[in-house]
Amino acid sequence: MSQKRDPIGVMDSGVGGISTLRDMIRELPDERFIYFGDMANAPYGTKSTEEVIACVRNVVDQLTAQRIKALVIACNTATGAAAAVLRGELSIPVVGMEPALKPAARMRKNGSVLVLATPLTLHQEKFENLMKQYGEGAVKVPCPGLMELVEADDREGARRYLTELFERYPADHVDAVVLGCTHYVFLKDMFREMLPERIAITDGNEGTARQLRRVLDRENLLNDEGPGSVTLQTSGGESAMALMKKLLNS
Ligand code: DGL
Repeated sequence: MSQKRDPIGVMDSGVGGISTLRDMIRELPDERFIYFGDMANAPYGTKSTEEVIACVRNVVDQLTAQRIKALVIACNTATGAAAAVLRGELSIPVVGMEPALKPAARMRKNGSVLVLATPLTLHQEKFENLMKQYGEGAVKVPCPGLMELVEADDREGARRYLTELFERYPADHVDAVVLGCTHYVFLKDMFREMLPERIAITDGNEGTARQLRRVLDRENLLNDEGPGSVTLQTSGGESAMALMKKLLNS
């Protein structure tokens, strides 16, 4: 039986989910979080669904061995590939993510909504279902290579990548941009700088933090006593750990 004081496991292929973790800490400061960045197997977004399921299972085994009371898949790609499978296998709640197309669709006028995500996210059935509901005027923009620039902390490389991208998708007829990969949230300031003020930029982080609170509350697993804490773990090396720490405190 899970206890209120047990930790929450959070995972991503790398540092991207740290952007989600920051919002979860703000929303639930009394919780204990264990964050796992699977840098040894990154990127997930250019792998097959089966390969991603295998990677995620491996991380989840390491987290469940630490008696987590809930799992947050802080990765759009891993959620699309593995969340349904994991929900069938685990006895703890699993909170996942999807590109924030729904709020972006509400802000759409006559232009388009660009959905930036990994190739695998945009190919999955889960995303197709989202497109059927909220996809009017939405354009899929796969961004292979962009998460790697975030992992390398290469802001200049990312700026060049986005400059080129917005040459292909000029902002004139765009109403909203969806950051459909948790890594891209670390570039939000750059997107804001490059895009006219009228263009909305959405991501799923705050919604995920609120969803985690709802799920814990529903399961009577909210830790109301604290103290809150964060433990960082990775399958990568020292530089991966250093970047996780830097971004967590940024
Ligand atoms: N951060 C991940 C996401 O939200 C994926 C990055 C990757 O491994 O390709 O989709």
